[in-house]
Amino acid sequence: MRVLLLSFLACLFILSCNDSKKDNETTQNKKEPIVYDMYEPSEMALLMNEMYAHNLKIKQDILDGKMPAEFPLEFLKIHSAELTKAKDRNATFESFSKLFIQTEKEIFNQASTQPIEERFNNAVNVCISCHQTNCTGPIPRIKKLLIK
Ligand code: HEC
Repeated sequence: MRVLLLSFLACLFILSCNDSKKDNETTQNKKEPIVYDMYEPSEMALLMNEMYAHNLKIKQDILDGKMPAEFPLEFLKIHSAELTKAKDRNATFESFSKLFIQTEKEIFNQASTQPIEERFNNAVNVCISCHQTNCTGPIPRIKKLLIK
């Protein structure tokens, strides 16, 4: 029984970085929530969802003509948050996370002469590039953050 439960949980973890998650999302509201109660996302998955929500807000601010106020310091957790698969924290991950923090900080650089939309899209493109290396599932969702 325990083994069954563990393999069930393992499947859910694997799904978190899988394309099938996307299909689930569209029907999420209609489905019973039992499965979601059992799914325990990693620190990194939680941070990623936070980063998604925060960047969505930044995008809206930019579209409304407001300047985003401050670089969200919690994003720095990307350097330490525990991943679902610990081995994913490799050299590629480290260099993309550094690049991501740099480009995200640029959004808040008031001295920059580059248009804010471009700076925002640069950061989102780093999200996408890192995801292309090992976690392709959320990419279609992340692309929706881009300012057209
Ligand atoms: C350095 C690489 C990297 C960068 C940069 C990155 N991600 Fe991720 N992302 C990952 C990895 C790896 C996972 C899987 C985390 C896990 O399961 O522990 C993930 C997971 C996710 C998830 C799924 C979380 C879940 O519930 O399973 C979303 C959504 C996401 N990222 C969005 C973003 C957004 C938005 C950005 C930019 C603001 C971003 N990511 C930047 C590597 C990255």
